[in-house]
Amino acid sequence: MARLTINGQPLEIRMDPDTPLLWGLRDGAGLTGTKYGCGNGDCGACTVMVDGQAMHSCRLTLGESEGRVVTTIEGLNFGGISQPGLHPIQQALLDEQAIQCGFCTPGIVMAAAALLQSNAEPGEADIGAALTNLCRCGVYPRLVRAVQRAGAVMRAGSNPAPPPPMAADTAKPGTNAPVAASGNDGTSAVGQPSADATIAPKP
Ligand code: FES
Ligand code: FES
Repeated sequence: MARLTINGQPLEIRMDPDTPLLWGLRDGAGLTGTKYGCGNGDCGACTVMVDGQAMHSCRLTLGESEGRVVTTIEGLNFGGISQPGLHPIQQALLDEQAIQCGFCTPGIVMAAAALLQSNAEPGEADIGAALTNLCRCGVYPRLVRAVQRAGAVMRAGSNPAPPPPMAADTAKPGTNAPVAASGNDGTSAVGQPSADATIAPKP
């Protein structure tokens, strides 16, 4: 079992603590936007934000995720409820036609969003260093343009990414981590658990 905050909601995922976070998200939380590619930390398809940093969810166990704040592609605009819409990197990927089959796209979006959070004017080298994601369709040149386009939009403030609010008790200073959602008991769950995995609200 692991207790963590996913897209602003505190959750308990009742799976083996050695289970990769990737499967906790997909099978436990029903958040299938995060993709499995290599399972080995090489492809980036499974990238999510953990405490505001892009991380490979296939290489982090649920046990290691205990108490941490996770944002997935489904929650990227969490906190933007009053400002719905695509994150600038999502719009830029569309505008630059940097999506083909789309399998790598969620991981790329999360890695790019994490980069733009700390550097809204990245150069080509910055993008190459931060986005090590593999794309079988070879969108790389368009990807660089898309990240720079999104950065320009964010700098101009015309389509700002709504930063996820901080979770008061778990987020590290300086990260854009989502806030814990509050139900009547301060707890809620997302997604539909699969038959062999359980998400349980905290008592
Ligand atoms: S599935 Fe995690 S890096 Fe490839
Ligand atoms: S768009 Fe197909 S793998 Fe990247």
